[in-house]
Amino acid sequence: MDPQAPILIVGAGQAGVQIGESLRQEGYQGELLLIGNELHPPYQRPPLSKKWLIEPGAHTALALRGADSLRRRRIDLRLDTHVTAIDRAASTLQLASGERLDYSRLAFATGALARALPLPGAALGEVLSLRSINDSGAISAAIRRCAAEQRPVVVIGGGFIGLEVAASARKLGAEVTVLEGLPRLMSRVTAPIVSEAFERLHRAHGVELVFGAQVTELKGAGGRVEAVRTADGREHAAGCVVVGIGVMPDDRLAAAAGLACDRGIIVDDCARTSDASIVAAGDCTARRLADGRLLRLESVQNAVEQAKSAAAALMGRERPFRAAPWFWSDQYDIKLQMVGLSHGYDQVVTRGDLQKPAFSAFYFQSRRLIAVDSLNRIQDHMQSKRLLDHGLSPTPEQVADAQFELQSLLKDAKLATADGA
Ligand code: NAI
Repeated sequence: MDPQAPILIVGAGQAGVQIGESLRQEGYQGELLLIGNELHPPYQRPPLSKKWLIEPGAHTALALRGADSLRRRRIDLRLDTHVTAIDRAASTLQLASGERLDYSRLAFATGALARALPLPGAALGEVLSLRSINDSGAISAAIRRCAAEQRPVVVIGGGFIGLEVAASARKLGAEVTVLEGLPRLMSRVTAPIVSEAFERLHRAHGVELVFGAQVTELKGAGGRVEAVRTADGREHAAGCVVVGIGVMPDDRLAAAAGLACDRGIIVDDCARTSDASIVAAGDCTARRLADGRLLRLESVQNAVEQAKSAAAALMGRERPFRAAPWFWSDQYDIKLQMVGLSHGYDQVVTRGDLQKPAFSAFYFQSRRLIAVDSLNRIQDHMQSKRLLDHGLSPTPEQVADAQFELQSLLKDAKLATADGA
């Protein structure tokens, strides 16, 4: 390994850009190369399933940083560049062009891949999935065609992508059917009470929701999808199909290079992999927790915070990332904000108006707060985030008492509240 060789970052998304910037903030003076396989400079992904579907614009409007930002920090950017292998013994990286690049240290920020539907007809035209800016443009155009031709948009998967796409498609005037395999929406991450609120919301906006749907085949004519068949024999007419059935961390290069991977590149809470000269951050990782479990998070916060840890680790410093995870989703006029991880809860207490909806679901495990989902309750979200970050917990009774102020716990702990109170 040549210590003077550049640090290479594979993957030019949110995590990759942040690793580069944080390395400069950490005082790294050497050469830094950010390698991306897409054509566009680094861009924000969250709008792709939301307002971008309704109003796509120039890709520069989604740029993660201003045009000059990377250059000023002396971060070289190579786009449309495909890494095909890593040779860890030689500390080199192989590109599809045949070129080899030496590295002193390496960072993976390769993101995740949309899970494909392994079914007959999945390769038909107008069967789409959403990961990139080009995917979003294609879905937006397909939805518009469906609206104009009065043909339904069928969404497979009632998770984040499926529901945001459904809400956007309704806004564009298309008929929408959502086929969800399980008995409720967003069941991977929310309690039934939250799923039910979103079920009412989507139905009120005219979306047809089908639960327990087992898709068996996509049927088409002239190479283009026309219907989705389910195991109960029903055929759902489709002008286009959007598949949102989850993601797979992209650990292919790392696994082929012999790094420890398990549906994601295994990292510790400082973003270090099983190779001392390689770090990884963002959707491509599976983080080993203190109790041995692996945590896979797909969120902007995780990409940014893990990237900061990764940059510190490359500089030989430990900067563990342990903050409570948070996520959000926009559907119609509802902002869903989630903080903490609700997995393993044994009690849910709500605050607010379930029908409106404007409420929060507080998840407890053995009477300790572990997560909060808020629907149009921004204050609850901000305050819960502070509570969870500082290991504070209201009792379930306090949460159930509408008069009880969550921020009083922050004040008692002498912590400034997020809203400045
Ligand atoms: P997801 O895991 O949120 O939802 C997938 C849904 O598809 C689940 O409800 C699952 O039960 C269902 N499903 C799986 N296989 C199925 C099948 N064969 N037939 C019918 N239903 C099936 O994943 P999604 O929605 O694809 O999103 C992928 C990732 O994109 C998320 O994990 C997240 O990281 C990111 N994302 C985040 C957003 C946010 O934070 N607001 C918004 C959009 C995407």
